[in-house]
Amino acid sequence: MDQAVAKAELHCHFEGTITPALMHRLAKRNGIEIPDNLVDADGAYIWTNFNGFLDAYDRASSVIRTPQDYYDITFDYLTSAAAEGAIYVEMFTSPDHAAEVGIGYTDMNAAIARAIDDAEQVAGIVGRMVATCVRHLGPDQALRVAETITANPHPYVVGFGMGGDEARHAAIDFAPAFDLAFAAGLSCTVHAGEVMGAASVEDALDALPVVRIGHGIRAIENLALVERLVAEGITLEVCPGSNLALGLYPDTAAHPLRALMKAGCRITLGSDDPPFFHTSIGAEYARATSDFGLSRESLVQFTRTAIDAAFVDEPTKARLREKL
Ligand code: ADE
Ligand code: ZN
Repeated sequence: MDQAVAKAELHCHFEGTITPALMHRLAKRNGIEIPDNLVDADGAYIWTNFNGFLDAYDRASSVIRTPQDYYDITFDYLTSAAAEGAIYVEMFTSPDHAAEVGIGYTDMNAAIARAIDDAEQVAGIVGRMVATCVRHLGPDQALRVAETITANPHPYVVGFGMGGDEARHAAIDFAPAFDLAFAAGLSCTVHAGEVMGAASVEDALDALPVVRIGHGIRAIENLALVERLVAEGITLEVCPGSNLALGLYPDTAAHPLRALMKAGCRITLGSDDPPFFHTSIGAEYARATSDFGLSRESLVQFTRTAIDAAFVDEPTKARLREKL
């Protein structure tokens, strides 16, 4: 891996960054059992398909019980990303997951923010949060999340987004949540065009005030939509390792990364849920050259695009660009 290429990541889920080793440590500290059938004998997460992955993700998240856990996971992830050359990471946080274990939104933010500050101090990496709702928990819950976020602004929460099962509900159903977050000054992104096709991306663009799409790769199935992405300057948070691990494409040759780049789309690289997919932000940049045959200049361009499309403030972006 080329540590010398500065990397920036706009797509990784806080709960999805917990390594099995850290999960074991937290479970022990919290006096709870690791859920059955979550890790194999080699210590890797067990799941077989997209919904199985979402389930494993929820069960791994269940070991997080305290603000200190939030601190440790954040610090662990940011410092490991920095060791691979990352200078900026936006993490998707989940107020819903925190609430499930009795942690309030402001306590979650405070713990993560403390780790962000400490990681910047020791490793020079800048971290920020994009608070997300969960699509399969439905539009009413999404609106409650947006209400919580907008009622409790935090300087490190720079955006609003949505992950979860893309097959559930229509994008328009989430317009009240996204409109509220957007009106409060939060930039927005949404997962679309990952497990569902191009129409899901189109619906998201039509219904929601988003400037980035999580994944969005299946836009390639509709060339008019690809032209729209280019014309509107939408940034795609592409996570090839995740897509390949989830079996969306049989191999690198079938993955649309290069085709989307050739069409002129704005593209960044993300690791999504790194230990679940046996990847990391460094591995994604490495794969871009080794498997996709991209140049070092393309890698630098991914980072430039990520900084341009980041939801962080302009002075911080200027500071990050100086590191390129
Ligand atoms: N939550 C965590 N990872 C996700 C993914 N790849 N797609 C949708 N929701 C997610
Ligand atoms: Zn994701």
